[in-house]
Amino acid sequence: MTPQRFLSPTASQLATTYVASTARYDQMSFRRTGRSGLLLPSISLGLWQNFGDADPIATSQAILRRSFDLGVTHFDLANNYGPPQGAAERTFGQIFAADFKAYRDEMVISTKAGYDMWPGPYGEWGSRKYLIASLDQSLKRMGLDYVDVFYSHRPDPETPLEETMGALDHIVRSGRALYVGISNYSPEQTRESSKILRALGTPCLLHQPRYNMFDRRIEGGLLDVLKEEGIGCIVFSPLAQGLLTERYLEGIPADSRAGKAGRFLKPENVNQEVVDRARKLAAFARQRGQSLAQLAVTWILRQPQITSILIGASRPAQVEELYAGLSFPALTANEIAEIEKYLQ
Ligand SMILES: NC(=O)c1ccc[n+]([C@@H]2O[C@H](COP(=O)([O-])OP(=O)(O)OC[C@H]3O[C@@H](n4cnc5c(N)ncnc54)[C@H](OP(=O)(O)O)[C@@H]3O)[C@@H](O)[C@H]2O)c1
Repeated sequence: MTPQRFLSPTASQLATTYVASTARYDQMSFRRTGRSGLLLPSISLGLWQNFGDADPIATSQAILRRSFDLGVTHFDLANNYGPPQGAAERTFGQIFAADFKAYRDEMVISTKAGYDMWPGPYGEWGSRKYLIASLDQSLKRMGLDYVDVFYSHRPDPETPLEETMGALDHIVRSGRALYVGISNYSPEQTRESSKILRALGTPCLLHQPRYNMFDRRIEGGLLDVLKEEGIGCIVFSPLAQGLLTERYLEGIPADSRAGKAGRFLKPENVNQEVVDRARKLAAFARQRGQSLAQLAVTWILRQPQITSILIGASRPAQVEELYAGLSFPALTANEIAEIEKYLQ
C-alpha cells in the first residue's frame, strides 16, 4: 500500500472506492445528437467553474460522482477551464483516475481549444499548430488516451476555416478524438464549417452555443442551420450562470458565482431588472410545482433541436434538483405563451 505521505495533498483528499449506482440509467432521458449515432443525456455537466485549484477537490469529486450516479454521462471541459488554465482538466484527471477508469466507455468527455492558453503566437485561436498541441496537453492533464468530442472553442477571423477544420479532421483520424464540434460560431460560419468537414469525411457532431431565457440569439438562425446540417446542439449557461435560479432573489450570497465576483458573473450583473424578471418567473414555476432553475431547463427542452443542456454546479444538490426537474411535464403552448410575457 502507498504510504499516505507519498501521496500528493490533493490526491490524499479524494474519497476512495467509488462504485457507480446500479440505478444510474433508470430515469435519465437521452437525445440523439443531430444525425449521428451518439446519444447524450438531457443534462450534461460542464467543469468551467468550481473545478479550479482553489475549489475543494472533495466537492468536485462529489459533484462528478452524484452526476454519474444520476445518468449524466457527458462531462464538458476546455483547455483553459480553471483557474488557472488547465486546472479543471487536471482535477478531472485525478478524479477520473480514482473513480471512473472502469466506466470510461460509459462516458462522453469533451474538451476544446480556442482561447488564450500559453504565451506566444501558437497558444490561442484556430491554427493547426495550436489545436493539435493543445489537445495533446489536454489528454496528458486528464490522463486520457482520447476524448469523445474535441471542439474549436471559437472561430478565428485570421485562420482559413479550411485549416481549422482540417486540423479537426486530422485529430479524429489520428485517434485523439472520436467526434468534433464547434462553439460560438455564427450561423454562416457553421454552415461553411459543416460543408468543409463533411467533404473531409468527418461530419460536425455538435455545436455549443449559449442559450437560456435571457439569451435567445440562437433562435435567430443558428438552430435552423443546425437542423439543415444535421448537427446536434448542446447549450451552455442554461441558467444564465445562476441568474435564472432563486439564488439572487434576496441579495447576493457570498458563496455564489456573483458573490465570489469572478470575471464572468459580476455583482453588477445581478441588477434590479434581472431580479424582477427572475421573481416573476419563479412565481410561475412555483404554480407548476417547480423551482425556477427547473423551469429554465424545461423551457429549453421545449426545443426538439436541443440535444443536451450543459449545466454548471457548485454542489451535488444543484445537479439533483435539475435532474428531478426532468420528470415534470413538458410546457403547454399556453404556458410557453405566458412565459413569453415575462421575457419581453
Ligand atoms: N463553449 C463556451 O464558450 C462555453 C462558455 C461558458 C460555459 N460553457 C460550458 O457550459 C457549462 C455550464 O455553464 P454555466 O456554469 O454558466 O451554466 P449555468 O447552469 O447557467 O450556471 C451554473 C451555476 O448556476 C448555479 N446553479 C446551478 N444549479 C442551480 C440550482 N439548482 N439552484 C440554484 N443555483 C444553481 C450555480 O451557481 P453558484 O456557483 O452560484 O452556486 C452554478 O455554478 C460550463 O461548465 C462549460 O462546460 C461553455
